[in-house]
Amino acid sequence: IRRVTTHRLSEMKLRGEKIAMLTAYDYSMAQLVDEAGIDIILVGDSASNVMAGHTTTLPITLNEMIYHGASVVRAVNRALVVVDLPFGTYQGNSREALHSAIRIMKETAADAVKLEGGEEVLESVKRILSAGIPVMGHLGLMPQSIHKFGTYTVRAKEEAEAEKLLKDSKLLEEAGCFGIVLEKIPASLGEQVAREVRIPVIGIGAGGGVDGQVLVLHDMLGITQQFSPRFLRRYHNLAAEIKGAVGNYINDVKSTDFPNEKEQY
Ligand code: KIV
Ligand code: NA
Repeated sequence: IRRVTTHRLSEMKLRGEKIAMLTAYDYSMAQLVDEAGIDIILVGDSASNVMAGHTTTLPITLNEMIYHGASVVRAVNRALVVVDLPFGTYQGNSREALHSAIRIMKETAADAVKLEGGEEVLESVKRILSAGIPVMGHLGLMPQSIHKFGTYTVRAKEEAEAEKLLKDSKLLEEAGCFGIVLEKIPASLGEQVAREVRIPVIGIGAGGGVDGQVLVLHDMLGITQQFSPRFLRRYHNLAAEIKGAVGNYINDVKSTDFPNEKEQY
């Protein structure tokens, strides 16, 4: 199998071939997602919500992200694996940022790291890149800054924030990032950023004019049930399927239907 590389992703952008990206946090799911042919697997800090049940992404630790990242990498043969740098491990100073990124690369064998922010974290981005670690940016709605934003609503609807987002995108490109995630912004702005930078722009709620799409796996599979923003397309109702299967198992145990003659030694 020919592996997806950052170089191959930029070729895809040049060709106009859209890039498909999903999250995964564990070995079993990552194996399925990789075998299905996904281009990029993001070990997102959304693991904080999806895996650990926190209400924000802030509590997840670097050690926990490394556990998830290493589990995913063990399963993957083709996709590019990107691991999120969690809150508090890169914003303060660029030396700490580099140290965090190095730990992720050494202890998970992932291909790249992702972090949130533009100009504010540019020094960290550059320092990580200077060590030869590929970096993906993340602008627009940045869940690690939820306490600053105060809401998970659409970002950059106003001129000033849109201009900053465009400027930050160019700064990240110039610094040497191989791609940028844009979360929950107007489609027109997503399209403009994708047109004005040469690196691939992957959107989540950023419209169809960007170079690729990303969704949280458990959301698009319908495992999570409460979360339904406009940008989310559900490809399955796995919650119903799983509850149905578990319900059948419970009934079979209670009725002594399971195990049958052939299911014992
Ligand atoms: O953590 C995550 O799942 C993400 C995606 C929403 C891009 O950062
Ligand atoms: Na994230």
